[in-house]
Amino acid sequence: MTLLLDDPYAAAALLRTGELVAFATETVYGLGGDARQAAAVVAIFAAKGRPHFNPLICHFAEAGAAFDEVLPDSRARALAQVFWPGPLTMVLPRHPRSRVELLAGAGLETLAVRVPAHPRALEFLRAAATPVAAPSANRSGRVSPTTARHVLEELSGRIAAVLDGGPCQVGLESSVLDLTGPMAVLLRPGGVSRAAIEAVIGPIGAALPINGGPTPTLRSPGLMLSHYAPNLPVRLEAREVAADEALLGFGAALQGAGLAWNLSEGGDLAEAAARLFSGLRWLDAEGTRLGLRRIAAQPVPKEGLGAAINDRLTRAAAPR
Ligand code: TXA
Ligand code: MG
Repeated sequence: MTLLLDDPYAAAALLRTGELVAFATETVYGLGGDARQAAAVVAIFAAKGRPHFNPLICHFAEAGAAFDEVLPDSRARALAQVFWPGPLTMVLPRHPRSRVELLAGAGLETLAVRVPAHPRALEFLRAAATPVAAPSANRSGRVSPTTARHVLEELSGRIAAVLDGGPCQVGLESSVLDLTGPMAVLLRPGGVSRAAIEAVIGPIGAALPINGGPTPTLRSPGLMLSHYAPNLPVRLEAREVAADEALLGFGAALQGAGLAWNLSEGGDLAEAAARLFSGLRWLDAEGTRLGLRRIAAQPVPKEGLGAAINDRLTRAAAPR
């Protein structure tokens, strides 16, 4: 059965033996395996039910270790100075001598690397002393976990342990930035805003459209439109709400819903990000139990962290 651990050293020891260990980061919980052990990497895809063409992020305790596996340029070094440890993932050319399993990067010539900011994750990664491949610790296509309990709900019995680190403070996944071309491209909006990245390296390429435009699946195979999918359908930009709907509120909540969760009464985007995935999970479970028809989400501003929040909501609402 799956152990719930508090000790990062015990968790690291398990990982070294090839076991899968979910661990808290500041963004969401990751489903970790030793990126240098083929069997562990294969097991990550299996436990998550993830298609093999969708590459994993490698996690490190410090920038030096991350940059041993890739070919960082001056932009990558500058960004690491400012944002690591923190919610930024950089996609860079793989180092020709990297011993990270090719499957971890889905066979691509590139590798996504990140140094997370959670103190317990850093202790775990330092003790593991190997690149730790980790997608979000949810079943493929579902909402990312922000507590150890969320992880156990979906992965109990499929992984050796969860390293508990409490509720995730950021609550949204890292921003994924592709630095393999002359123009940096934001593949996934996340915990570090586009404006903050541009303040360090100048203008970056347009975020790939998720509404209408060409499918972004080639450049970042994981950016499938239907993702973060609750069981109940999701209605966006709700300006009124019905009694058979579960309300995901923001700011002054609409009245009349059958069930309600407010992301942030004060309209604070950081608070809203941290409460988004727990809210979706709770409304989905309770709303289903109460026989409600769908989740209605109030508008959230699109600036700063709001870009990432709206990205996740759009995916949660996408046709399946
Ligand atoms: O905050 C996070 O990033 C969390 C925590 C655990 O670190 N991890 C996470 O991993 O969200 P995952 O696997 O759920 O999402 C990683 C995203 C996917 O969209 C994947 O396609 C993209 O990063 N990605 C990974 N490696 C890539 C690569 N070499 N090229 C392009 N995209 C890549
Ligand atoms: Mg994920």
